Amino acid sequence: MKIIVADKAGFCFGVKRAIDMANDVVRKRDGPIYSLGPLIHNPQVVDKLAQEGIIAIDDLKEIHAGTVIIRSHGVGPEILSEVYERGLNLINATCPFVSRAQQIARDLYTEGRQVIVVGDKDHPEVQGIVGWANGQALVVQNSLEAEALGAISNAGVLAQTTQPLVNFQQVVDVLKQKTEQLKECNTICHATGERQQAALELARNVDVMVVVGGANSANTGKLANLCRSTGTPAYQIETAGELRVGWFACVEKVGLTAGASTPDWIIEEVKKRMNELGEMNGIEESKEQLEEINSAEEGMQDSVEVKA
Ligand code: F3S
Repeated sequence: MKIIVADKAGFCFGVKRAIDMANDVVRKRDGPIYSLGPLIHNPQVVDKLAQEGIIAIDDLKEIHAGTVIIRSHGVGPEILSEVYERGLNLINATCPFVSRAQQIARDLYTEGRQVIVVGDKDHPEVQGIVGWANGQALVVQNSLEAEALGAISNAGVLAQTTQPLVNFQQVVDVLKQKTEQLKECNTICHATGERQQAALELARNVDVMVVVGGANSANTGKLANLCRSTGTPAYQIETAGELRVGWFACVEKVGLTAGASTPDWIIEEVKKRMNELGEMNGIEESKEQLEEINSAEEGMQDSVEVKA
């Protein structure tokens, strides 16, 4: 069985930078270290960071001293002010692409425009961007939601960095009909698009896809769904232990990709285990045993597909 890893897979620039900054803080440790929210959407990495002494908190009010790491999603200015007011040390690991979107939101607001963000209103990155527009920005997820807005005389539109370009453009097209003056700011980061494109191309050329990433990672879920849209079965897993031998029966080529919050060491573990399972499938004598394993795993396979 041949395993092909997508050209672009795993940690993006912003996540890698945040993890490097966190490791640096651990090395220079000076008092307790916290991250505001889990540093990335990957439970295995968060556990590892916790073992190194980085404690994830939900609210700054939970702490009175030490260092706070702001994750790559960024936060609104009111949170940064609170960090200073409480006398905490700040390590701001906001991805520079997110910082750019925040800056644009602030500029649009200062210019007196109605700021409109295309994205998921519950996502922390979007909530942070809204904060930079003085909490006054409107958030729309798609063109249907944009249609529901009333007429606006002067607006500026930007995107959550992980938005698909086509969705952003559809919203912009709707807004052009509703606003007299629209300033359009494409703040989409290429990392997501590149990962999605590489996964799509790979999925079209293999028999099965395996997508690795946190179950709570939105970009990993999107990657898995994109792979499935090609008609190729795609399984989303967090760790090598979730792989099932039955997925690879009679399979020649398997594609492997991973969300932006998946570290290389997990991708390597998954690849190694896939190789082992591929070899098991290749052993003629174990055919009966394989059939038994396959039928036993059928139920588990369904549950993993639902979870994805
Ligand atoms: Fe930054 Fe893009 Fe990653 S915005 S955090 S490099 S997906």
